[in-house]
This record gives sequence, C-alpha cells and structure tokens, in this order.
Amino acid sequence: MAKELTMDKIVSLCKRRGFIFPACEIYGGFANAYSYGPYGVELKNNIKKLWWKKFVQDRPDIVGIDGPILLHPKLWEASGHVGGFNDAMVDCKKCKKRFRADHIVEDATGKDMEGDLAGMSKVLAEGKIKCPNCGASDWTEARTFNMMFKTEMNGITDEEGKSIPVYLRPETAGAIFVDFKNVLDSMRVKVPFGIAQIGKAFRNEIVAGNFIFRLREFEQMEIEYFISPEAKWEPLFEQWLKWQEEFALEIGARKENISRYEHPKEKLSHYSKKTIDTMYNFPFGIKELYGIAHRSDFDLTQHAKFSGQKLEYLDPETGKRYVPHVLEPTFGVDRSVLVALLAAYDEEATGEETRTVMKFPKSIAPIKAAVFPLLKNKPELVEKAKEIFDTLKTSFVCEFDDNGNIGKRYRRQDEIGTPYCVTVDFETLEDKAVTVRDRDTMKQERVKIEELEKYLSEKLK
Ligand code: GAP
Repeated sequence: MAKELTMDKIVSLCKRRGFIFPACEIYGGFANAYSYGPYGVELKNNIKKLWWKKFVQDRPDIVGIDGPILLHPKLWEASGHVGGFNDAMVDCKKCKKRFRADHIVEDATGKDMEGDLAGMSKVLAEGKIKCPNCGASDWTEARTFNMMFKTEMNGITDEEGKSIPVYLRPETAGAIFVDFKNVLDSMRVKVPFGIAQIGKAFRNEIVAGNFIFRLREFEQMEIEYFISPEAKWEPLFEQWLKWQEEFALEIGARKENISRYEHPKEKLSHYSKKTIDTMYNFPFGIKELYGIAHRSDFDLTQHAKFSGQKLEYLDPETGKRYVPHVLEPTFGVDRSVLVALLAAYDEEATGEETRTVMKFPKSIAPIKAAVFPLLKNKPELVEKAKEIFDTLKTSFVCEFDDNGNIGKRYRRQDEIGTPYCVTVDFETLEDKAVTVRDRDTMKQERVKIEELEKYLSEKLK
C-alpha cells in the first residue's frame, strides 16, 4: 500500500501512462476539462459495462434507454431546473477570483448556509473571511447563478419567432421521465420497475476541480425506480444504498473508505422524503460519490402538468390508476473512475526500487493480458508472440509489446494495471509453453500455449 496517496501521484500517473490528459493542453488547457486517453477510455467503458450488466442486463425489473442531451426546454421548467438549479457565488474584489459562497463561508465558520444569500453576504461583509487565493477580505455580495449551459437550436422559438434557450441537460434523469410513457407502452414492465441511462451531463460549476471529481462536462449512470405510492419504500431505499455501496466495492473501493451522509430533513426539497449520499474518503476529504433520493411523484406530476399528458400507471391486478413514486439512485462515472484509480494505486518496495502497480479489479483493468517476445531482434520470438496475441485478442483486450527491455515492459504493464503478462522466450520454441506473470504476486508460471486461453479465462473470471 502506498504510504501517502496524493492526488499529484494519480494525476501524474494518469498523464504519463495514457489514462487522463488535461484537455486542449497545446492551447494552455481549458477550464478544468480532461480527455480520457487510451487506457482511461478502456477503464471508463469497463466501469460503465459493469454497471449496465449489474443494474440493467442482469435484472428483469430494469430497462435501459439512451436519450438526447438537448431536450425540450419545457422539461427543465417542469423539473424546476430553470428556476432553481442555482449555486451561490461570490467574487473576491481584489484578485477577481470566483468562489462558491457557501463553500467559502462553511470552510471558515463551519456553518452550512447554503440557500441563505443574505446570511452569507452578511458574514462575508464582516471582513473576517479571507480569500483563499490572495488573502484579502473584500467580497462582493453573494448571488445566485444558474448552472445550466444554454445554447440555441434552429426552429426553437417563442410564439413571436424569437429564439429561446435550449439547455444542455444538467442530469440524465430528465430524459428518463419524458420516456416513462413510451417505456410503459412498449415494454411489459410492471411496478416496481426502473429505467436506467448512462450519459453526459453538463453543469456550469462555479468552481470545478480536484482533477475529475468536479467537472463541467461529466457522465452519470442513473436509474429512476418507480414504485407504488403505497409501497413500504424504506427497505427498498436501504437495499438500493447497499447496491450502490456494493458497486463501489466492485470497482475496487475499500469498505473503510465508504460512508453515508443523510441530508438533513430541513434541507430536503418539499417533495423529497429522504436523500442519502454514498461518501468516499478522497485524498482531498470525504466527499459525495453517489446519491439516492426518494422523489415521491414530483417529477411525473410536473411533467404531466407541463405536457398535458397523463403519466400514470394502471395496476393490472387492482385496476387502479396512480402516479408512481420514484427512488432515484444516481452514480457519477468520472467519480467512479477516480475511485477506481485511487483504490488501485499501490507502491511496493522491491529491492532498491519502488514498484508502482495499479491493482484494478480484473473486470475493469483496461488491458487483461500483454504479450511480449523476450527479445525484439529475434524474428522467431516476435512471430510466435504475435501469433499468440492474435489468438488471445479474440477473447480479451490484449496488448502486444516488444519495446525496451523486459523489466521495463513489466513495469509499464504494472502501471496500467494489466493482470497478466505473457512472455515468449527461447524455450517456447522447444516446449510450446510461455511464462505468465501475475501482476499482484509477481509469480511466474509456465503455461502450455494450447492451454493459455483457458488458463487466462479462468484467472480473469
Ligand atoms: N439526478 C440526480 C443528480 O443529478 P447529483 O447529486 O446532482 O444528483 C449525481 O449528481 C452524481 O453525479 C453525483 O453523486 C456525482 O457522482 C456526479 N456529479 C455531480 N456533479 C458532478 C460534477 N460536476 N462533476 C463530476 N461528477 C458529478
């Protein structure tokens, strides 16, 4: 286990080894945005695949959709985002840097004043809170800022033909609610059932940061789980929390780093019965990883009101019609990637050197097996290794590497978290076997080529 896991170590490994790059670096970077590199995109896709399998494909009660990013503007009026998806911001008058007002106040006083603009402005005006950037205590008033990104779309106008704003969705959930009726009409779903979606969401965060923890463009994996208003929802809510924690463990999180935070009743929206966040112990503090909320029938009722459509469920057993209530378990993709990276990172002393190894769970490791010829300049070894790579690549994501000495190749694969390295050496030509090295134990085993695919399949299960 690495003695001190800092964000710097993760950020630097991610860049060095092709997981995550700062976006638009040649132009000096861009607004805390990041690109997933070749191994990062494999890791992210594996996490999404694991989630989709666990919560959609393996469950008879959940179906998946993939809705648009640009949705009808009325949807965001109905959901309350146009009126209320706000954060409070404040500017330092001296250095002009912008901050979340509630964060600045809470960090300095320990008081959570979110939503109390006048109260925050009063505390800031007392002159005791210093700007974290320049140390001055000269603040503007705290004011609200809507976090939705706006754009325009051809043909989307008001009654007078004037262009009206179209929003980039700030969460994937909206696209699920507007498809509730289509799913009900086309699928044989019965309450309780869920609709799941993975996709991009956009928020014009006042302050983004902590690498990929808080981004302005990110991905979510969300489920709207529809239940009867009369159902005893508490045990199901608890069960969903457990499934969320279970998923965090499956991507590598350690139990001791996971906790829960229940939102205080007085902070909940009027329609919400309960909200609990799954928290993770990040190097920069204990922060939200996932969330679950009981949203009652608020969303379906609002969309029915704004669209003029009935969004009800007809219970086939009782013949009763009702608007289902909803539990909303929500998972951040990028925060999942960050947890997977942090949890996998390990440093081991090997003699005089330190071995850095990413001990990803095998299911999410970007590359499952790397195939090496012992020497690059021995065509018979290279040819055999390529032959083995061609066979294995039909079953697993593999990599062929003949670059540099074998020790360096092992170190590189350790740093990208490849569970198995397969080396073709001179003996291979005689005994038709290869050396398989295990990432975690570094133990080497001789395996017959004809048994290699089966051997790896079993190990990777
Ligand atoms: N539909 C409910 C919803 O969107 P949320 O707590 O605002 O709830 C859900 O977001 C999840 O999305 C969070 O738990 C987090 O994992 C992720 N998330 C939210 N804002 C994010 C951001 N700016 N950057 C990266 N991930 C974010």
